[in-house]
Amino acid sequence: MKTDFFFQINNRLHYGIGKSRELNTLIEADGWKNIALLVDEGVAKHSAYYLEIKKIIEGAAESVTEIQLRGSEEPSYDYLDNVADQARAINQVDAVIAIGGGSALDIAKAVAGLITNPGPGLKYRGFDQLTVPAVPSVCIPTTAGTGSEVTINAVFTDKSEMKKLGINGRYLNATYAVLDALWLESCPHDVAVSAGMDAMVHTLESFMTGNANPMTRASNREAFVTLYKNLPALINAPKDLDAKQAILMGAYLAAAGLFNSGSGISGALSYPLGVHYKVPHGIGGGIFIASVIEYNVQKGWFEYAELLDLIEPHTDWTAEQKSKRFAEVIRELSNTMGVPKTLCQWGVTAENVEAVAELMVPLQGAFNQNPIEFIAETDALEMLRHHVA
Ligand SMILES: [Fe+2]
Repeated sequence: MKTDFFFQINNRLHYGIGKSRELNTLIEADGWKNIALLVDEGVAKHSAYYLEIKKIIEGAAESVTEIQLRGSEEPSYDYLDNVADQARAINQVDAVIAIGGGSALDIAKAVAGLITNPGPGLKYRGFDQLTVPAVPSVCIPTTAGTGSEVTINAVFTDKSEMKKLGINGRYLNATYAVLDALWLESCPHDVAVSAGMDAMVHTLESFMTGNANPMTRASNREAFVTLYKNLPALINAPKDLDAKQAILMGAYLAAAGLFNSGSGISGALSYPLGVHYKVPHGIGGGIFIASVIEYNVQKGWFEYAELLDLIEPHTDWTAEQKSKRFAEVIRELSNTMGVPKTLCQWGVTAENVEAVAELMVPLQGAFNQNPIEFIAETDALEMLRHHVA
């Protein structure tokens, strides 16, 4: 763990069931007159809560321009530019308010930056490329998992290269986040499960990374316990609003840890699988996470004992015994959540697994974050082989 580090959260959090009903006070306090309201089209069309909150926003601002975002797991730079142009056409946007899933929030954060920084989104790909502060933004997630509302990352697909590469860093944070479980009521079950597993993968990977520090570890521990206790409710008690609110907290803390420490093997593997095979991001990570933990424990990394202690104290066990049990715990959780064991249903099979493994070669940088050496050409292929049959 690093003892010399930098840690940041550039976000003001408003947290609570029904908290969105207080958006008017936020708008009035900051004196926003013209608002670009970016909303996931599914939410705009089907959520009664959205109509209620939209009225509150309209009551507090002078003008509100709604831009509906089409639902997509993989927003492209072309689509980002399309939305940015719509927002730039609005006269003097004071703030962007975004309501939607992780992709919608990613678009909104980037659009807030593109309103003040000219040119196409691709120009700002990478880290700290935005040179002018973004207009203020409010990110309100309608799924609990990605944590986009707290990170300084927004992921887009460059269609010409079939790669996911984001706009990251300075000015790419949401000014405010509102975590309010009433939005999750309209979230489809499979999306909720994928997003929830995404959050669990975030906190576990952040915990493992070589850049972990006391601040990220504090976020990781709280996120892990919160998610571990509440994720099963998505399966066993899907109407449990308190559990959903807790999952929002877990996802926020998990992402706060992750963007400060960097990601690891599971998240990295899931990116090309999402782009080329349409594997949902959270499920992709969820398929690999238990295997990654088993791999690390087998090779002698036993820091998972610290996480097991939080949920299952075994005072006389060694760190090795606890870490082995932890791998089982995560395997059991994946099963409870209905995470598939293989990638076969998305067309990744024993026949094409070697070609799929080729896609992983450029990810060696992310693999290097793992506490145990993991080689793209050999270990990634081996890992994929375990998940095709
Ligand atoms: Fe993720």
